[in-house]
This record gives sequence, C-alpha cells and structure tokens, in this order.
Amino acid sequence: MSPRPVTQALNEANRELDLTLRPSRFGDFVGQSKVRERLELAVAAARGRGDTLDHVLLCGPPGLGKTTLAYILAEALEVNVKATSGPVIDKPGDLAGLLTNLERGDILFIDEIHRMQKTVEEYLYSAMEDFVLDIMIDQGANARSVRLNIPRFTLVGATTRSGLLTAPLRSRFGQTARLDYYTAEELCAIVRRSARILNVDIEDEGALEIARRARGTPRIANNLLRWTRDYAQVRADNRITREVADRALAMIDIDVHGLDEMDKRILDALIHKFGGRPVGLNSLAVSVGEEPGTIEEVYEPYLIQEGYLKRTPQGRLPTERAYAVLGEPPPAVEPRLL
Ligand SMILES: Nc1ncnc2c1ncn2[C@@H]1O[C@H](COP(=O)(O)OP(=O)(O)OP(=O)(O)O)[C@@H](O)[C@H]1O
Ligand SMILES: [Mg+2]
Repeated sequence: MSPRPVTQALNEANRELDLTLRPSRFGDFVGQSKVRERLELAVAAARGRGDTLDHVLLCGPPGLGKTTLAYILAEALEVNVKATSGPVIDKPGDLAGLLTNLERGDILFIDEIHRMQKTVEEYLYSAMEDFVLDIMIDQGANARSVRLNIPRFTLVGATTRSGLLTAPLRSRFGQTARLDYYTAEELCAIVRRSARILNVDIEDEGALEIARRARGTPRIANNLLRWTRDYAQVRADNRITREVADRALAMIDIDVHGLDEMDKRILDALIHKFGGRPVGLNSLAVSVGEEPGTIEEVYEPYLIQEGYLKRTPQGRLPTERAYAVLGEPPPAVEPRLL
C-alpha cells in the first residue's frame, strides 16, 4: 500500500499503545453490535456443548478491530491463540508446524489470509474440514504422502481484501463477519474509554471532535487521541477541550472531515484529472498509484458511505460533497448525478 504519512507515522509510534487500549472482552468492544452478538452466541453455543468454535473469517478495512476480535474470541473461549500472517507461511511445512503444535480448541489466527500462497492454502482445506494434513515426504520414486491428524482447532482468518479469497477457502469458514466503519458516537465512546485508560483529562466535546475526524476507524481515533494528549500537555494545561482537539489536529493536517491522504488523492483525481466524468476503477487506480482492489475494498467504502463518491455503471463519480471538500465549486449542471 502507498504510504499514508500522518496516520502511518503515528501508527508506528503507537503499536504498544495499541496493545494497552485493545479491549480483551466482548463487553469492552464498542460497536459492530451484529457481529459481536453473533460471535458471542457462537462462543456460548460451542462452550455449552463442550465443542470447538467453527472457523471464523473477519473482513474489513484496516484498524476496525479484526485482530482485536480474534483475541477476544480466544479470551471468551479460554483457549490459546497462535498468531501468524498469510505471507509468513511460505511452505506447507510451516503450516504443518503451526497446526501440529495446537491444542484442542486453540485458535490459529492468520492475518492477511488473502496473501497466503496457493500451495499452502490447499493444505489448509483438509486441515479446516477434516483436521488432517496430507503431507508429501521424500521425492522422486520414494515420494509418498503421509496423513497427519491435527487437533480440532478454530481458524480465525482476517482480511482487508475479502475479494481476493478463493471460493474453496471462503466456503470453509462457518462464519464470516464483516466489520463496518464506526459512527462518530461509537468512536467517541472508544476515545473516552482510551482516555480513561491513559489517564487523560478530556471533555465530551473534545472526544467527539477526535471521533469525527478519525475516518470511522478506532485505530485512527486512538492515534489522534495520543497526539492530542501530547499537544494538551505542552500547550493546554493537560485538558482536551473541543478547541484544543481542533488545534492539535489542525497541526498534523487532519482536516475536519477526517479524510486521509489517499482519500484526498482519489477525490482530487476524480475532480481535476478526470474532470468529474465517470472513471473506471483501473484508470483511477493508475492515476493515484494504488492497486484497484485496495481502492475498491479499503478506500472506496468509506468515501461512498460518507457520500463523497458514487459508483455508477459508467464509472466512479465525485459527488457535490467531494467538490466541497476540495474547495471547488460543483459543476453547473450535473445530469449524470441525477
Ligand atoms: N470495537 C472496538 N472498541 C474499542 N477499541 C477498538 C475496537 N476496535 C478496534 N479498537 C482499537 O483499535 C485498534 C486497532 O484494532 P485492530 O488491530 O483489531 O484492527 P485490525 O482490523 O486488525 O486492523 P488491520 O487490518 O490493520 O490489522 C485496537 O488496538 C484497539 O485499541
Ligand atoms: Mg490486525
């Protein structure tokens, strides 16, 4: 992915903070009520039967709580988690090593599961379905396959790009949970909770200001809170009011709409480069230097939800709101938007 300078720099400084602020129980997990309810129910049912939880796929843009949910599931089930990520497992042997080290009921968390090699992925099919692995040993004339039994485990897969998952893999998950962007109210609750944990003095209005500018994303909300706390410490008596939040966020170029660099680049391309005419996904992607799939699954959902961009059969179009954000007058007549 292309760099997103501000949020990315803050992200790196914040990995540890992320862990402190990461809720570890369903009760502390704000928002996503449908997903939470379904997962809680599945956990209760599995526990009631003394069974293991069915495999779960968590999809959604970065920073919405996929990893958090994987750990919450483990906590609720009282099992261990082994965490890895798609690109790290580069041969079937790696997968065999991970799977044979699990105990019954454990969670294997595979982040970025869409980036797993196809050869490894095929081994995962029988592991998920029948809890066996057929591994080839030796080569040439001596080559033979050996069947390994593995403990009944729960695979929790996370992906920002569910469109890249193959159908056979997708169909082996008992549940697919899609996370959506958070409302400003939900993010406000997250900011207030984080502020309590960090011992930061914040007014409700200050929390709401941060929430509104966090692009619907808890990770960004926490990062902005941390920055605002630093700002308040040095410039404002340690107290975050609406005005302090506003000044702090303006200083790092987080605009009042909470759009990030790539969001703005996309809107800028639609309006300036393509002159507000319908644009195909591929042309848009080339012009902003990002993969089409990432534009489609990571950036566009937010822009569409917030009413900056429209997908039409002819292509992508900027809305009046997009013109407003860039400080441009909307085109006089917009028959294509009617
Ligand atoms: N529902 C929530 N309630 C409270 N805090 C949350 C919630 N969801 C996420 N967070 C906070 O946001 C941070 C980022 O969440 P998480 O790491 O789970 O995102 P992710 O979906 O795994 O992102 P990525 O795709 O980048 O891996 C967490 O450390 C946690 O502090
Ligand atoms: Mg994650």
